[in-house]
Amino acid sequence: MADAPLLEVRSLVKQFGGRRVVDDVSFTLARGETLGLVGESGSGKSTTARCVLRMLEADGGSVLFDGEDVLALRREPLRRLRRRMQVVFQDPHGSLNRRSSVEQILTAPLAAHGLGDRAARAARVAELLELVGLGGGYAQRRPRELSGGQAQRVAIARALALEPEFVVLDEAVSALDVSVRAQVLNLLTQLQRELGLTYLFISHDLAIVRYMAHQVAVMRHGRVVEAQPRTRLFEQPRHEYTRSLMDAIPVADPDLEQARILAARE
Ligand SMILES: Nc1ncnc2c1ncn2[C@@H]1O[C@H](COP(=O)(O)OP(=O)(O)OP(=O)(O)O)[C@@H](O)[C@H]1O
Ligand SMILES: [Mg+2]
Repeated sequence: MADAPLLEVRSLVKQFGGRRVVDDVSFTLARGETLGLVGESGSGKSTTARCVLRMLEADGGSVLFDGEDVLALRREPLRRLRRRMQVVFQDPHGSLNRRSSVEQILTAPLAAHGLGDRAARAARVAELLELVGLGGGYAQRRPRELSGGQAQRVAIARALALEPEFVVLDEAVSALDVSVRAQVLNLLTQLQRELGLTYLFISHDLAIVRYMAHQVAVMRHGRVVEAQPRTRLFEQPRHEYTRSLMDAIPVADPDLEQARILAARE
């Protein structure tokens, strides 16, 4: 069903040492849209995402991905599902193997799933580099020869290698310089449009979430305190905590303004 949500999270619970760091979290995510998950450090954003991706085992609740019960899947169906869900983390250099070339980094997921022969993989690497705005010349570089923005583009390309439908972006632009950040945000928006991607966009920065998200869920102490469509959330925040996050947004962030103008022009 095209208009059924791609992702439905219901009453998700995760505890560490008896402490509920994800406490009854629910949200839905429509295909081709972005849900911004925002909240202060330690509010449980990454833990929520890791449970959805089965990088951590949840202690309760359910996760439906395209109608499939993710938390109940065994090894082989989980492996198949993992191709459809990918993640990009904050630290671009930390997430790339220092010893590998960009080509090896982008080929690894294809090899892991036994896709394509040598020539097909090389062609896919060129295609992926093109997709993220890097030329084929980058294929033989090592991570240390890349800037933060270039490294994050490689991490995005790797996440896209298996043609996922859903990508978790966990503080994916937070470590980047402000001007580079706007470029990478534009790239993510463009990729979403071209490839029909669905994003879970995690950030502690409401200004960035405002730029990226269709829906916003605000987390605090493991709970979603408020969830609304973006426009409504910014016009009429219901929760005191959301208002305090908004007060922390600088009046005008010139680079985000610029990104917004560019995006509107396309
Ligand atoms: N493996 C773990 N063992 C014990 N406690 C953990 C573990 N992972 C996370 N926590 C705790 O769970 C809480 C939520 O952490 P989480 O990383 O999900 O927060 P976050 O919202 O992503 O924060 P940030 O914005 O800093 O990334 C924190 O108090 C954290 O210390
Ligand atoms: Mg986190």
